[in-house]
Amino acid sequence: MINTGKKVTTDFLIIGSGCAGLTAALKAADLGKKVLVVSKKKFTDCATIYAQGGISCVIKDDDSFESHVEDTLKAGAGLCDVEAVKAIVKEGPKRVNDLIDWGVKFSCRGEIDLDVDEKEASDYDLGKEGGHSHRRVLHSGDITGKELLTVLVERCREHENIEMWDGAIGVDLIVSRRLGLEGKNSCFGAYILDSKTETIFTVLADYTVLATGGAGKAYLYTTNPDVATGDGIAMGYRAYAIISNMEFFQFHPTCLYHPKGKSFLISEAVRGEGAELKVLDNGEMVPFMQKYHELGSLAPRDIVARAIDQELKRTGQKSVFLDITHHSEDFIKRRFPNIFQKCYDLGINMAEDLIPVVPAAHYCCGGVETDVDGYTGIPGLYAVGETACTGLHGANRLASNSLLEAIVTGVNCIDHSQRSPNAVSSSNVDIPDWNSGEAVDSDEQVVITHNWQEIRQFMWDYVGIYRTDKRLQRAKRRVELLRREIEQYYWNFTITADLIELRNLVSVSEMIIDSALKRDESRGLHYNADKETSTDPETAISSRIIRTFYGTEQ
Ligand code: SIN
Repeated sequence: MINTGKKVTTDFLIIGSGCAGLTAALKAADLGKKVLVVSKKKFTDCATIYAQGGISCVIKDDDSFESHVEDTLKAGAGLCDVEAVKAIVKEGPKRVNDLIDWGVKFSCRGEIDLDVDEKEASDYDLGKEGGHSHRRVLHSGDITGKELLTVLVERCREHENIEMWDGAIGVDLIVSRRLGLEGKNSCFGAYILDSKTETIFTVLADYTVLATGGAGKAYLYTTNPDVATGDGIAMGYRAYAIISNMEFFQFHPTCLYHPKGKSFLISEAVRGEGAELKVLDNGEMVPFMQKYHELGSLAPRDIVARAIDQELKRTGQKSVFLDITHHSEDFIKRRFPNIFQKCYDLGINMAEDLIPVVPAAHYCCGGVETDVDGYTGIPGLYAVGETACTGLHGANRLASNSLLEAIVTGVNCIDHSQRSPNAVSSSNVDIPDWNSGEAVDSDEQVVITHNWQEIRQFMWDYVGIYRTDKRLQRAKRRVELLRREIEQYYWNFTITADLIELRNLVSVSEMIIDSALKRDESRGLHYNADKETSTDPETAISSRIIRTFYGTEQ
């Protein structure tokens, strides 16, 4: 049984509590706006907290915006929006300064390298990751996301203009088209389920920001936390926002392979410090990446992940290995304290042993289509961070560009809202409260767990690193069936957070499959063995999924 809550009004409703959402919240609150942030679990349950690598940003004289732009475009395999890349890269230093002002501490050289002279010791230590031609990744040891989120949550909690609800999940956006109103589709807020009281609130907001992160839980193996079920993307789709580039799902090459590791990430920064990928072949540990790319183990992620996949299939091994034993235990502990400890607890001493790793789903490059301000084209509605597709990542995201995009678009969307002539107001519209209709409590929770597992398994097997036409068609048949079943279940039974997540997960999975089927080439992260590979910017076209009154238009 679901209760209907009172109507709540606010200037900004921010759905999601990662780095992008909280940056937006602070920016809006500093302008004197009333902000409500909702988080479906705890405020720290988001992908940001797991970010190890850091924030790529040009802060040194020997680096340049041009070089960062060029690296981003190269990784993006011809599909990036060049103007979006330039704009986001250029805003990076300003936004990093905001973080420093709020209290975020980045590692300095003296903390990592004990031999560095006194003058250089206080310079920021810059990490290197795949596809970057310079050291430009600001980090806080190997727990950058945790440092960032701890500071942002603290600042939000102490801000008098910010209200924070945990255990509150977005059910659906309230948009004029779904209310049957004439005129341009506009967003008035969202229905929010407070799981603790089983109450659905009608939250009316001048501006709604989707900041729910990505959708890694669509895959069996992922580095993402359990909350990554594509909620913002699915809600955006149901509200008639355009969804683009969903076939470009990034698989991180180096996830710890250990029964007690639970998808623990071994940061790309480990390879940035010289770790080499090796495979056990005929009883010998051999490096293999040079065979696939001139940058070896530090090649862009799509190439490394595919190479690992190929080596695993060729040798029949269950994992490949990372070798960083050329560094002392002392150095590894200072540079990667968290990773060192985790491995050590599992019996792997990084200074002496090789680390078993496999690829896992990591980042959704597609999402709700927006400009660099996070604007969706629907007045009142923004999407930021991993939920959005700004054009920065193209067909493959450059390492550590995601936190950069999150902090830049988080601020940009608030600036845009203040200069936008299209601000909408719900005060003249009769917005109905949530109506549960004839729904009754479900007596078969097993349907949810079973369907969830089935989706993740076939997505991994058929829509993963290596795709073929046949596999994609097989996945399409399965996802259609499940989507219909889940929709029926959704309307017949009382909604719960689990059911909302499942409905979103099947929806984003179908979008990934549809976009993959539609692409008539292999490009970047989308590799289809039946299609030619292209990186040509001239022929690069974004794939788009557009909902109409009559179904899905592609
Ligand atoms: C990593 O530390 O390898 C992850 C960084 C990222 O995904 O950008």
